[in-house]
Amino acid sequence: MTDVLVIGGGIIGLATAIALSQKGANVTIVERDRCGRGATWAAAGMLAPEAEGLEGNLLDLGIRSRDMYPQWIASLRRLSGQECGYWCCGIIAPVLFSSLECDRIAISTHPKYISLEESRKRQSGLGDSVLGSLWLPEDGQVNNRKLTQALLTAARSLSIKILEGTTVYQIVRDRDRVTHLDTSAGKLQSDRYVLATGAWTRALLPLPIKPIKGQMLSVLDCDRKLQRVIFAPSCYIVPRQDGTIVIGATVEDNGFTQGNTAAGIAQLLNNAISVYPAIADMPITETWWGFRPHAPNEVPLLGRSDYENLILATGHYRNGILFAPITAKLITDFMVDGIADSTHLQ
Ligand code: FAD
Ligand code: GLY
Repeated sequence: MTDVLVIGGGIIGLATAIALSQKGANVTIVERDRCGRGATWAAAGMLAPEAEGLEGNLLDLGIRSRDMYPQWIASLRRLSGQECGYWCCGIIAPVLFSSLECDRIAISTHPKYISLEESRKRQSGLGDSVLGSLWLPEDGQVNNRKLTQALLTAARSLSIKILEGTTVYQIVRDRDRVTHLDTSAGKLQSDRYVLATGAWTRALLPLPIKPIKGQMLSVLDCDRKLQRVIFAPSCYIVPRQDGTIVIGATVEDNGFTQGNTAAGIAQLLNNAISVYPAIADMPITETWWGFRPHAPNEVPLLGRSDYENLILATGHYRNGILFAPITAKLITDFMVDGIADSTHLQ
């Protein structure tokens, strides 16, 4: 028996488990693989509510979460002793000569628009395809893979029980309550449950979540001249502090099709080289792919489900790394303190 069973050990499950534990709950995480090996591992780690073009309540949620990051990272550092590559480096979102004329005109009147000359002052080496850009100094990045390691260590330091290699086969219900989980390790039971299974949610409950594949690659920048994230219309380029540059990502609606394709990687490289030509000479260090959990209107499913003791925390689509701290807070406020944020929770 445990107070809360969190199903799924990605960034959302880990962050929520830690926040619940810090409020006194006895928490267990059930993860079929290793924690943080789903979309959380595949991501670029951008903290980019503005560059991603979020709007309305979602933009508000993204900015609140981005603002929480410095303190959240500091608290994880205290618990884990680990760095997460959090870097408020700013994002340059180039407008390209090839953009539609109407888009170019609209963007050039944006309050955050800067000329090509100003763009080059913020980041040298931009390609000839760049006409100008939006300069978004508050957007930034975190190294999502390091963050996962820090979350795991922090969770262990709080005595959160982590059952890796344990698959939940079925959420067993009786009327409007979950009674237990059928898992590869037998029956698991708890007072309450949090569903944080990302793109695989539909295998457990008929919720409108589908996978959207993203292919990625990385190159090595020995000179480390790239110091800003570049978020172009058809690719983004994310420099890590160790010289790795992460380039992403395709957006493919073809289910759980595994693997990188030549066309996917070629498309990313061509687009990236046109906005930052130095990439052409950098060695490729890794290629990978992952599945974003897409929800209708790209709005995560947070809060109540059809079952009174099952809470939803899924469907974060393109921004789950960004949304992790605010998700953990909203779910914990709701489950422990009974505070239901009616704007963001269902
Ligand atoms: P996941 O990390 O996928 O975790 C779900 C976990 O549940 C998995 O570990 C899985 O094994 C487990 N699970 C599923 N079913 C079961 C079961 N039946 N039993 C037990 N365990 C189960 N977001 C950003 O904010 N910034 C970015 O720059 C960014 N870039 C991205 C780039 C790509 C290519 C991709 C694919 C995503 C990107 N994202 C980004 C989105 C972000 O990665 C996701 O929104 C986020 O990781 C979702 O976290 P999660 O914990 O819900 O899902
Ligand atoms: N947020 C970047 C991506 O999902 O590709």
